[in-house]
Amino acid sequence: MSEQHEGRGVALVTGAANGIGAGATRYLAASGMRVVVCDVDDGPGRELADAVDGLYVHCDVREPDHHAAAVSAALDRFGRLDLVHLNAGVTSGCTLGEDFDLERYRRAMGINLDGVVFGVHAALPALRAGGGGQIIVTASMAGVVAVPFDPIYAANKHALVGLVRSLGVTLGPETGIRVNALCPSFAETAIITEIRPLLDEWKFPVLSVDDVVDAFARIVTGTETGECFTVVPGRDSEPFRFRNAPGPRPVS
Ligand SMILES: NC(=O)c1ccc[n+]([C@@H]2O[C@H](COP(=O)([O-])OP(=O)(O)OC[C@H]3O[C@@H](n4cnc5c(N)ncnc54)[C@H](O)[C@@H]3O)[C@@H](O)[C@H]2O)c1
Repeated sequence: MSEQHEGRGVALVTGAANGIGAGATRYLAASGMRVVVCDVDDGPGRELADAVDGLYVHCDVREPDHHAAAVSAALDRFGRLDLVHLNAGVTSGCTLGEDFDLERYRRAMGINLDGVVFGVHAALPALRAGGGGQIIVTASMAGVVAVPFDPIYAANKHALVGLVRSLGVTLGPETGIRVNALCPSFAETAIITEIRPLLDEWKFPVLSVDDVVDAFARIVTGTETGECFTVVPGRDSEPFRFRNAPGPRPVS
């Protein structure tokens, strides 16, 4: 049965059961939105959905059908869709060379890149039908800097940055749909478990999930589109300033 939602709108978050996605879900719910909590980690996902009076949907972001079902669930239960946070992501766990692992590579590209492309594709008709909305993609600082210990992660996060910058133009002001990327540095979640000893050795400052959610909130309540917001310890979150690429030299 549909509960037509008259409040602050309806959001859908992937990778919502833990870490940054869970923080974003709690923020959105606290701001008055109904949230569709999407993940493959069903136990914590259901618990969180119950806690925020949302809806849990098992959604493996590598599967286009799962995205379509999650969007349908949002429309069936809450009557509309206003904000999509495409956040699910993993490290690859391998580099290139001797430890390259085809399965790990495909898993990382499938979750981090396909998972966002399929999510945007599934959400656009519902956002358009509602007269606009926004898409926020969790990319990473790994989308704008080199990552020697996980070049595959850097590759798919750089791809998200290109996707978001391009979609910002594709989805012009007439659509009313804003699309931006959240680009955190290392943040205190399970994803950094393996690299934690190195971060400690380097004394590298690590963000809290709250720091990342504050930057997420800045995007939600902002007006920008096609931007990639850096989130770095001790600095305000702001759109990354890309250098202009050279155009063709004018022919004389
Ligand atoms: N924590 C960091 O240091 C950091 C920094 C920059 C970017 N990020 C990005 O933030 C996002 C969230 O990661 P996190 O740090 O909260 O880590 P996390 O491991 O706590 O959360 C990732 C979530 O994604 C879910 N997930 C994994 N595979 C999935 C799939 N196939 N389908 C749907 N959900 C799936 C997991 O179950 C988990 O709930 C990721 O995209 C990650 O790359 C994290």
